[in-house]
Order: sequence, then structure tokens, then C-alpha cells
Amino acid sequence: MTMQPWFPDAKLGIFVHWGIYAVNGIAESWSFFNGQISHDDYLKQLDGFTAARYDPVQWAELFAEAGARYAVLTAKHHDGVALWPTEGLTVARERDLLGEYVRAVRAKGLKAGVYFSHLDWTHPDYASIGTGDNRFAHPPEGQQDPARWERFLAFHRRQLAELQTRYAPDLLWFDGDWERDAETWRMAELRAELLARQPSVIVNGRMQGHGDYATPEQGVPIELPPGPWELCLTINDSWGWQPQDDNHKSVRQLVRVFAETIGGGGNLLLDVGPREDGTIPPEQAERLRGLGAWIRPHAEAIYATTRGLPPGHFNGATTLSADRTTLYLFVFDRPNEFVVLRGVRNRVTGVRTLGGTALRHERFGGLGEVPGWEYIHLSDEHLDPLCTVLEVTLDGELELYRAHTRD
Ligand code: GLC
Repeated sequence: MTMQPWFPDAKLGIFVHWGIYAVNGIAESWSFFNGQISHDDYLKQLDGFTAARYDPVQWAELFAEAGARYAVLTAKHHDGVALWPTEGLTVARERDLLGEYVRAVRAKGLKAGVYFSHLDWTHPDYASIGTGDNRFAHPPEGQQDPARWERFLAFHRRQLAELQTRYAPDLLWFDGDWERDAETWRMAELRAELLARQPSVIVNGRMQGHGDYATPEQGVPIELPPGPWELCLTINDSWGWQPQDDNHKSVRQLVRVFAETIGGGGNLLLDVGPREDGTIPPEQAERLRGLGAWIRPHAEAIYATTRGLPPGHFNGATTLSADRTTLYLFVFDRPNEFVVLRGVRNRVTGVRTLGGTALRHERFGGLGEVPGWEYIHLSDEHLDPLCTVLEVTLDGELELYRAHTRD
């Protein structure tokens, strides 16, 4: 599978969970699935969803200010409620909420992603097979009649065809594949269909083996996925707007997750949950702006770089320039006189804080093929309050020393 180059270069995307669940401020879809509210009462939120102050141009400006290069909006979550005019449940009666978003983010130069739940816990032909403490199963017996499954799949495919022909999304962000296997969903056929319609569309991994990249959730993986990946992360602990949840990560914490993610070759898809009227809560908007304020002066170490050094070479995240001759080191902690770079065969020709001062550096130790340690001296005056980035220039393309090869 060839990956569109814009995706690994983009580094930051903004995820938007916006739907009727913001009316009561409860969990998206899961609140009825887990029995916190009846399905009927959940759907009553349809009447309270106004989008009265929805201004996607403002969203797009904020996302661009955050440093994002793409966004992903929940066109349809597991509750089955669509944000575009379509058959079935939709909140887009007066305005095409999804269409306006796609136009606005593109006008700001961002790629437009669309989140779509395969499963639909409201559709009469979709039987949920949820187990455990799930008190909602539709139809209640959880049995899937084959003819109804065919009808559901036809509907699923019609909605996707509609999304592609109307909006040509750059990225289809699927979710909700877990209640059926790849054969029942006919994922291989679906993938072929999506790509036939739009050869350049990127499809995330929630396709049971038929997607383009892995989607770890809420934590940077320690063992990194070998191919392209994207970490989706909430700012507080909720995907959608939940007013009681004030457990927001600080900008410093977000910068750190972001740096560690891109250092591992991933993208960060950072989530916001707008209110039902379409406004993004200030606690979230502030954090996006704070992240962007750190990203801007460090852009060279971020966009269009590649996965940095494997573990062991540096205590912290690193990225590598596309031509592989410049390393960027992300220093989170206050160093005790110096930081150390290990196992780099190249000569280091210069070190500076990104956009700033040249730093003293020297190599000690090593023998023959075994490179010494590069000590990079820095003191408090060089430190960025959120995360300091060091630019390390090499005498050629990066060459690593990994293992002792002689007995
Ligand atoms: C989790 C949540 C779901 C959300 C998704 C985003 O699966 O349960 O509601 O849409 O994460 O990745």
C-alpha cells in the first residue's frame, strides 16, 4: 500500500467529536449502549441540537493556528446520526454541516478527514452483538438476519459513496468495525470500492487488516508500529463535550506527547468536543493555541521529518530531517550540565538550539568503529519553557552504531 506523502508529513491533525450527545453533554453513543440513558431519551437530543453558532471557518482558523495540517470530523458516530443530508437520521436539515466543514478546512490549506462508524446502533437492520454490561442490543436478541444484513450493508455502502462523491475526503477515518469480522463486512471489497472511486483517499486501520495505517488510542505505544500510524488523544478524558470533565492535559503535557509521537514516526490526532451550538470550549481552544505557539518556532524539527533514533541513542524524542543529515533532539527535562547523544558514527558539525544559540559539544571515548558519546552542553538560559529542541548537524547521512559485532 502506498501512503500519500501528505499524511506522514502532516504530524498534527485535529479530531472533532460533534454530535447530538453534546446536547446533554454525555458520552457519544456509548451512553445508551452502556445503559446510562435509554435509546429513546438519547435520541431526544436530536431536538436540542441547534448548531446555532457553528462557524467552521473559525474552527479551521483555530486548527491552523494549532499547527494542524488536517482535521477529522465525526460525520456519523455509532449512534447513526449523520452531519450531512442523507437518508436516515441526520441533523443536517437546514445546513450541510459536514460540507461546510470540508470547504472551510480546505480553504485554510488543511486536508479534510471524515470519521464514519461502520456499525450503526440505531439502524433497524443492524443487530448489535454487544456483550458484558451492555444493556442495549438492537434488535434486542442481538441476532442478525442475513437479508437484513444485506440491506444494512447496502445502506452502509450508499452512505460511503455519497460521502466520497459529494466531499471527496482526503482521509476516511473508520471506527466501529469490531462487531463483525472482515468477511462479514466484506472489507476487501469495500477497500477496493473506496479506492476505485478515489485513488488518493487514505483509509485508517479500523478496517480489520484492510487499512493504510495503525490507530493506537490514548497512549503512545512503547513498541512502535512498523508502518505509518496515528495516535488519537483526548485533551481531557472525553471525546465529545462533557462539561463535568475538567481533567485537561496541560500544554506542556500535550507538547510532550506530540514530540514523542512524531519522534516515533506517528501523527497526533488531538480531539476537541464542541458544544451542541458548534462552539469549541475555551479550555480546549486555549490548549490548541498553546500547542501551536510552541510548534511555530520549531516547525523545522516537526513537519516533513521522519521517525527519529531508535531507543537507546538519546534520552528523549528525536526526529530526522528528510535528507537524513540533521537530527532534532527534544529535551523535556532540565539537563545537568549536558545531554548525551550515543551511537552516532557521523561527526557532529554543529549543535544549536533551534533558531537560537550555538552550543558547545564534544565527543569523548569510542574506539575505531565504536563511536564515542557526544556531550552537548546546555544550561537553563537555553531552555524553552515547554520543550527545548536542539538541532544537530551531521557530516553526512545519519549512520548508527547499534551492536557490538566482535567477540
Ligand atoms: C473510542 C471511543 C469512541 C471514539 C473513538 C475515537 O473508541 O469509544 O467513541 O469515537 O475512541 O478513536
